[in-house]
Amino acid sequence: MIGNSDSNRPDNSSLQLPRHIAVVMDGNGRWANKRHLPRAAGHKAGVNATRKIVENCAKSRIEALTIFAFSSENWNRPKDEVSSLMSLFITTITAEVKKLHKKNVRVRFIGDRLRFSAKLQDSINNSEALTENNTGLTLNIAANYGGRWDIVNACQQLLIAVQEGGRPAEIDEAALNSFMALSDIPQPDLFIRTGGEQRISNFLLWQLAYAELYFVDTLWPDFSDDDFDAALDWFSGRQRRFGKTGQQIQQERGQQQADSSSVAQ
Ligand code: FPP
Repeated sequence: MIGNSDSNRPDNSSLQLPRHIAVVMDGNGRWANKRHLPRAAGHKAGVNATRKIVENCAKSRIEALTIFAFSSENWNRPKDEVSSLMSLFITTITAEVKKLHKKNVRVRFIGDRLRFSAKLQDSINNSEALTENNTGLTLNIAANYGGRWDIVNACQQLLIAVQEGGRPAEIDEAALNSFMALSDIPQPDLFIRTGGEQRISNFLLWQLAYAELYFVDTLWPDFSDDDFDAALDWFSGRQRRFGKTGQQIQQERGQQQADSSSVAQ
């Protein structure tokens, strides 16, 4: 278990938990503005909230957490903000990776890393190599990532596969999915965005097809243990239908319960 265990926290063992949570960590800049601090201070404070959600996911035995650290559009921010984010990534990865490794967390990056400095690419590659065989939480960090980029990238690979002897008729959802980021883990079932905006902002466009979308006004650096619990609680109350009717889902549940009680007898 990562971090301090807090016996005052609610027991969520009876909740329907998500297997994979995806988070847009929005609001760092506004958090800093409110305190008359530079935006970089907001991003630094955001790292503490990031550490906390990683700990909470590991504690709650969530299988995967994917966080949007830097979008392909974030290069358009003022030069000094981009460069302070790059330095923050290097220091944070270097400072955190050994601790994450000790906690059995597998760290992976998604996005086009080739645009980053050699130093940042080194720390990304090293953190993945160190933790690749870990079996606890999978922490995916989206960096220079865009949902549309991901789809285009997958299409390019699919085209290569077709040119190497595949047939266009073999292109189906499963084939395209196999070239998308995160195709080897369950798709996100809970999407959280902090900071009050209600949009996906070119995050995991393909992968979020059936995710439950949870928006909260809290600015990312203020996202607390209670906010995390509230999101899990909300998710637990959602009925996930995947195109079926509510009645079908209830019948399936009844059937599953009947099957499991007959196995137990
Ligand atoms: C969005 O808030 C936040 C970001 C673009 C950066 C998020 C990065 C971190 C929290 C650092 C995590 C570090 C690692 C290594 C994973 P914003 O600046 O858009 O906020 P605003 O909407 O209030 O301006």
